[in-house]
Amino acid sequence: MTLNRRQALALLAAGIALPPGLAVAARPGVTLKEAAGRKGLRIGNAMAGGPNRFENPAYRALTARECHAIVCENATKWTTLQPRPGVFDFKAADAIFAWARKEGLKRRGHTLVWQEDRWAPSWLVNYDFGAQPGREAERILSDHITTVTRHFGDDLYSWDVMNEAVDPATGELRESVLTRRLGGPVAQIDMCFRLARANVPRAQLVYNDFMGPEAGATKHRASVLRLLEALKSKGTPIDALGMQSHIGPWSDLEAKGGKAPFREWRKFLDEVTGMGYKLVISEFDVSDKALPGDIARRDAGVAARAKDYLDVTLSYRQVTDLFMWGLSDNANWLRSQKSMAMREHGMPSRTTAFDDELAPKPMYEAMIAAFREMPPRG
Ligand code: G3I
Repeated sequence: MTLNRRQALALLAAGIALPPGLAVAARPGVTLKEAAGRKGLRIGNAMAGGPNRFENPAYRALTARECHAIVCENATKWTTLQPRPGVFDFKAADAIFAWARKEGLKRRGHTLVWQEDRWAPSWLVNYDFGAQPGREAERILSDHITTVTRHFGDDLYSWDVMNEAVDPATGELRESVLTRRLGGPVAQIDMCFRLARANVPRAQLVYNDFMGPEAGATKHRASVLRLLEALKSKGTPIDALGMQSHIGPWSDLEAKGGKAPFREWRKFLDEVTGMGYKLVISEFDVSDKALPGDIARRDAGVAARAKDYLDVTLSYRQVTDLFMWGLSDNANWLRSQKSMAMREHGMPSRTTAFDDELAPKPMYEAMIAAFREMPPRG
């Protein structure tokens, strides 16, 4: 007897183990790129060095098959690009982008500034800004953004200009070694976007953050909205909000009768798009840490969460791109982030569309189904 994927998923999600030996129908050979592309949605993947990623020809081939675009997971961050003051190192990023260009993959940048000091290069955090700290801070920021954006130029169609400027715990805007010398966070963020616009005028400029639909992110969402409103009133050149979309067990939502209602998430997206911003799903993966160890049930739970989230979020035609933060479970950051993945059963995480052998998982089917059901992009 053969069940199709969806029937199998439904059984598994209901906690009914599949009878041994049951064949699950193979799916038609549609790719993520084809299914999403039919509706005008661009699919991307984060690429990084390492044996499970850029150094694995099969992983490169999978990315080229399934995606329209790539972003460097780490190679275009300040810590990598300017490891010492005035010393730039584009080697790793140029190698990844050269491959992408050859494969016909579009390229986006992540991230010109990651606000929290712990993600800035140590030389910057410990820098002596001298007698005119404001001018020196502006010179350093302008030098970094100008050098980096000009190096890549129009080769990158989109940039995360600013990443994670909000402290989710307090809802306050983060201070950093730069904000304290550049008139505060809003002024510094505005400066970053104006510098990017001046150097790459055709690039989509994105504010990127991890606020999510869960009840615990209420303060985070509210603060991001306030920031976007403040920047809009300043005329800051921002085109889109990047929703990282590291989603996962939102038991507080699911407790209300199964399907998460996402009421607050819809309100949030209504407000963001109401201000005229586009939306980018920028770092999609699904935490499995609260799911059971049984692989079939865990995969079904991840697929169900992915579908719930994408059905709501992709119903907004303003979502132009969906980037995954790794296409296979062993290429996803959660595999190595023991604290984040903290699963009771201690088994390796299964948080993406493909397994360690690069075979599609139920989450892949869930994404294809979500693309089939979403409205075409405006
Ligand atoms: O490359 C060095 C290697 O030479 C060294 O031996 C090793 C041990 O110190 O570190 C390696 O660098 C690591 C790098 O990943 C490449 O593997 C860094 O320590 C490690 O901190 C870095 O983690 C990345 C993290 O951002 C911090 O930059 C993760 O791979 C990456 O998935 C994660 O991505 C972030 C987004 O940029 C922003 N949104 C959240 C997301 C998840 O945290």
